[in-house]
Amino acid sequence: MRFDIFTLLPETITPYLNSSILKRAAERGLVSFHVHNIRDWTTDKHHTTDDLPYGGGGGMVMKPEPVFAAVEAVLGAPPCCPVILLTPQGRVFTQQVARELSRQPRLALIAARYEGIDERVRQHLVSDEISIGDYVLTGGELPALVVVDAVTRLLPGVLGDPEATGKDSHAEHLLEYPHYTRPAVFRGWEVPEVLRSGNHAEIERWRREQALLRTLHRRPDLLSQAELSEEDRAFLHAHGWAKTKT
Ligand code: ADE
Repeated sequence: MRFDIFTLLPETITPYLNSSILKRAAERGLVSFHVHNIRDWTTDKHHTTDDLPYGGGGGMVMKPEPVFAAVEAVLGAPPCCPVILLTPQGRVFTQQVARELSRQPRLALIAARYEGIDERVRQHLVSDEISIGDYVLTGGELPALVVVDAVTRLLPGVLGDPEATGKDSHAEHLLEYPHYTRPAVFRGWEVPEVLRSGNHAEIERWRREQALLRTLHRRPDLLSQAELSEEDRAFLHAHGWAKTKT
């Protein structure tokens, strides 16, 4: 899979892409990252990328010309792949959106700065808008990295264990069960006996119940979307789940 990331601050993006799992995925040819500085497509002597808003008011607005020029130079016109603008006004990024995006062979991401970006970029260049949550950051660089990271780890071969992402929190609208490693007793706190029992059926059952309990206590809103067996439902009801069946 190929990512093209358009930004005014490439130096904030590249160190993360050059670290750990993302770096290894790129070295192994599973993914490629291409970071483009929008400023390289300015044509005036001051390399201007922002301007005052029409109608007045505070803040600066990103000019459309360099953004269009950058994206069209790299992706063609019309663009050869989805072009995603990171913005607090977009659809909210979830594990399901990450999975959907991971099926694309190529994605372009635009990280906007300043107070905003000229509306014509949204209307005529961008095909999708994504928010990473209901809060406002100073720019789209961190959100772009969040999307790249969440999507890349879903690509086949990126994580060592091919089953690893199936059990992730949110993979099935459930939070993940607790994990333990050695030592078996740390400061007097013991690893649950069942995990040391070697009984795989019991371990699976315990993990399922822990995932259900965690979700019930921390994020009961997720349960209406989770695929629950009759046994799961009975377990949840026994632990106080009041919600009627969906
Ligand atoms: N840019 C600024 N805040 C953002 C957010 N929450 N999500 C995506 N892009 C953003």
